[in-house]
This record gives sequence, C-alpha cells and structure tokens, in this order.
Amino acid sequence: MIGRKILSVIAIMGLGFALGATNVSADEAEKRAKDPRNKKFMVGEKNSGYVYMTSQTRDMQDDDFGNPAFVWVDTGEALWNKVNGTAGKSCASCHKSASKSMRGVANTFPRYDPQTKKMIALQAYLQRHMTKDMGAKKWKWESEQMLAMAIYIKLQSRGDPVKSIINDSNRATLAPFLAKGKKFFEDRRGLLDMSCKHCHEDNPGNMARSNVLSMAMPNGFPTYRLKWQKPGSIHRRFSGCNKNVRAKPYKRGSEEYTNLEFYLMQRAAGLKWETPSVRN
Ligand code: HEC
Ligand code: HEC
Repeated sequence: MIGRKILSVIAIMGLGFALGATNVSADEAEKRAKDPRNKKFMVGEKNSGYVYMTSQTRDMQDDDFGNPAFVWVDTGEALWNKVNGTAGKSCASCHKSASKSMRGVANTFPRYDPQTKKMIALQAYLQRHMTKDMGAKKWKWESEQMLAMAIYIKLQSRGDPVKSIINDSNRATLAPFLAKGKKFFEDRRGLLDMSCKHCHEDNPGNMARSNVLSMAMPNGFPTYRLKWQKPGSIHRRFSGCNKNVRAKPYKRGSEEYTNLEFYLMQRAAGLKWETPSVRN
C-alpha cells in the first residue's frame, strides 16, 4: 500500500531530508505504484527498486540500447577477453565463455572466505584473484574496470532469481555475519538517529525529499544512477545513505558493508537479478 503520509521522523529532524511529501509527490508515488510493469519486479511482499522509479527511468532499464550502463557491459566484455598480467592470461583463457561460467555467480557473493574467516564481496575477491592468479595490477573498487567487470559478471544472471547460499552445512558459519548485517540495518545512527529500516522497511513508497523510498534491494547492482551519471557499487550507495543521516560512512569492502550486503542478499531472495539496473 502506498501511504500518503509524510515521513514524519524525517520531517521532524529537518536537515535535508525534511519537507515530506507535497500532494504532487504523493500522486507521483501512487502513479509509480500503479505501473503495470511492476508485476515482474515484485515477489510476495518484496519489491525491487524498479517499482519506485519514474516511468522514464524504467524505460531506460527496459531497453538495453537505452540503458547507459551497457557502455560498461561492452567494456566488461572487452576486459574479459584481454590478456592482463604477468601470467599472460585473460579471464577467458581459464573461464571460457562468461555466459556459461559466470551464470549464477552473482548469487554466491558476498561469500565466506576461508582465508580471512570473513565474508568477501565480488570486488574484493576479484582484486585478490587478479593479483594472485594473473599477476595483474588490482583494480580499485569503484574504478571503471571494476564496475565494468562486476556488471558483466552479474549480467550473466539477469532474470534468474536471487537465491540464498545458506544451507544446513554452512548455516553455523554464516549465521554470525548475517546477524551483524541485520544489526547494521536496524541500528540507529548519525545525527538524524535513523536506521536503514526506518526508511527502507517502515516507509517504502513514501517520500523522502524528492525521492520515493524503495526497500533497499541489492538485485540491480552495480546500478546506473542518473544522479551519478555513471554506475556505482552497492557499497557506494551504503556510503551515500549513511551520509544522508549524517553518519560516518565506512570504506568500500569494509566488514560492515560486506556483512550488510550479505544480509540484503538474503532479504532479496526471490526477486530477479536486474544488473545493470537504472535508478533515479
Ligand atoms: C589462471 C586461470 C584463471 C584466470 C586467468 C582467471 N581465473 Fe577466475 N578462477 C580460476 C579458478 C581456478 C577459479 C576457482 C577458484 C576456486 O574455486 O577457489 C576461479 C574463480 C573465479 C570466480 C568465482 C567463480 C565461482 O563460481 O566461484 C570468479 C568470479 C572469477 N574467477 C572471475 C575471474 C575474472 C573476472 C578473471 C579475469 C579478470 C579471472 N577470473 C581470471 C581461474 C582463473
Ligand atoms: C533517510 C532515509 C534513508 C535512510 C536512513 C537510508 N536510506 Fe537508503 N536510500 C534512501 C533514498 C531516498 C534512496 C533512493 C530511493 C530508493 O531507492 O529508496 C535510497 C536508496 C538505497 C538503495 C538503492 C536501492 C535500489 O533499488 O537501487 C539501497 C541499497 C539503500 N538505500 C540501502 C540503505 C542502507 C543499507 C541503509 C542503512 C545503512 C540506508 N539505505 C539508509 C534513503 C535512506
């Protein structure tokens, strides 16, 4: 249900996120909620971020030729086939066709890393894999190359459902990381003293400033964000959402953000992969 009420907590707090909804905004939120295209992007109570976007943004995502992130897909494909590093190998030398070898891989990150006994995200995994197994220079988290490769790898799972990697044999190992991610999502923080949950679980469909709040689903990342004029990682998004409540952001690849991403993945199970999604 799309509420017409303003985000009162936010309104009371002032500081940028004030203002709440004007009638125009509430109508706009309702218009987005009624878009017949939503059906494919909803499962039970779960909605993809797509459901909260403007029509124009959806049009861009729906058409690969209109989706600006496909420039990065092309770069990702070129990098996949390019020899890189002292071992004289490309990704394709070992993995062959990405459409076969990388399909389903999106669901397996963040994964448990026996070496560090922590969770590891795709980007951190690739940084180590490339230096160790290819003798290549590592790409920075938010670099063009890393974004392109992460998009290219996750694109191979597009349309497949997000699936939990938790099973009976790894449950005990993964449980503490999941609990930490959930706690991060629910803890209040920052000058505004707000949790992720306040905006993304208690208020999806309501307005925060000029944005319609979504459920914070990870299934379209790296996403092309119009505001950024380029794609960005989910850790970049976490950092932005932390800063919006005047809280300290963590580093990309930090334990905090990796566990949080892991939690969001479990929470999104059943929705379909959309990478590269387009967001306002
Ligand atoms: C020298 C061969 C080799 C090269 C070159 C190589 N990989 Fe790998 N890669 C492997 C092997 C072997 C594994 C499995 C490692 C394991 O199971 O511990 C792997 C695992 C992976 C995984 C995890 C897949 C899964 O299903 O668990 C990803 C993602 C990946 N590689 C991406 C890349 C990318 C991207 C490149 C190029 C930048 C690349 N690899 C280059 C050999 C290679
Ligand atoms: C003050 C409200 C607010 C808080 C608190 C907040 N966010 Fe957000 N977040 C937003 C807004 C606004 C957007 C852009 C519209 C949307 O997708 O919800 C957004 C977007 C996102 C998205 C992108 C979803 C997509 O489909 O691309 C993710 C993921 C996300 N937030 C995660 C978080 C996490 C994790 C936290 C806690 C660390 C958090 N947010 C805290 C307001 C908030």
